[in-house]
Amino acid sequence: MTHQPVIPQDIQGNPVRVGLPMAMLAELTHRCPLACPYCSNPVELARVNSELTAAEWGDIFRQAADLGVLQVHLSGGEPASRRDLTEIAAAARDAGLYVNLITSGIGFTEARLRELDGIVDHVQLSLQGIDAEMADWISGYGGSFARKMQVAEWIGQIGFPLTLNAVVHRQNLDRLPEMIDLAERLGCRRIEVATVQFHGWADLNRRPLMPTLAQAQRAREIVNEARRRLRGRMVIDYVPADHHATYPKSCMGGWGSTGLNIAPDGVVLPCHAAQTIKGLEFDNIRDVRLAQIWQYGAAFNAFRGTAWLPEPCASCERREVDFGGCRCQAMAMANDPLATDPVCSRSSLNARLRAEAEAEAASDDIALVYRRMPKEKRT
Ligand code: SF4
Ligand code: FES
Repeated sequence: MTHQPVIPQDIQGNPVRVGLPMAMLAELTHRCPLACPYCSNPVELARVNSELTAAEWGDIFRQAADLGVLQVHLSGGEPASRRDLTEIAAAARDAGLYVNLITSGIGFTEARLRELDGIVDHVQLSLQGIDAEMADWISGYGGSFARKMQVAEWIGQIGFPLTLNAVVHRQNLDRLPEMIDLAERLGCRRIEVATVQFHGWADLNRRPLMPTLAQAQRAREIVNEARRRLRGRMVIDYVPADHHATYPKSCMGGWGSTGLNIAPDGVVLPCHAAQTIKGLEFDNIRDVRLAQIWQYGAAFNAFRGTAWLPEPCASCERREVDFGGCRCQAMAMANDPLATDPVCSRSSLNARLRAEAEAEAASDDIALVYRRMPKEKRT
């Protein structure tokens, strides 16, 4: 495949320099034992037989390091579902990358974790709830909480720096203080508290999961108080509920500006949900070098710069701050990837969106639509 040089432009028509990616998310597999109702895997999963091999990952990590990537996040699905995880992680390490493992913990034995000692620099462990009743219900996996706590103990014994990734929503947000306490007890250096993003699978679970405005406001107070109390000991990253915000976040720090994702089958994406955007063309790392894709790939250049921005973004003072918000959210909520992110208070769709979110948050429907993985056999 050939790529024509594309020069992104700003709103005045000046060329915009393409920066270097700092981080790469390596989705090793879409397989996962959990069935979270807010799963961020695409609706169309990559088949096991299409997954990149460990040798292919090794080549990708070298290309990424040459391109300027500093850290790789080994993710999924559940990376422990790959039997060759240690080999893959070692290849990332050999390429000189900082290696972060993102896991639910399910699938690890103590021996498998110990194999990663000296290879993996940091572990992020997901948290679905503060006790077995909540965590097993949300993850759709009986016994997950007990196993996760066992894995957390091994992580501490081995000495991996640990971040807890708590995904929060209406069902567990009232227990945020206990989540922060748990992170402290586990000796975490950081806890990331991220409110569910309602696109992809989570869109099917808006009624049971949408936080109330009161919860979102209280969560901010809890985070601010905990940040003061834990300063110098533990960092708290907080991703607030989009639907209650005034302005959207700068998703991915701006499209195609600092990070990229590799799907299990080698498709290279500007963000994990980019395949939900109709009409974008994606390259596969099996066909095109990573540097070419990053610089000239059609999907990567689709929303670079600010020349493409619609009104009211084009004349907004925040256009270089959030770049019109999240493209995947615009696709999901406005059915138009070029639209102003509807979570922005200046979007014409915002009033409707807020009214819907309020109605969903008031719902007493708690039936979850789980994300179960289809069973597949390697042939
Ligand atoms: Fe951001 Fe556009 Fe909203 Fe301005 S109008 S805050 S640029 S999304
Ligand atoms: Fe794709 Fe925000 S998740 S741009």
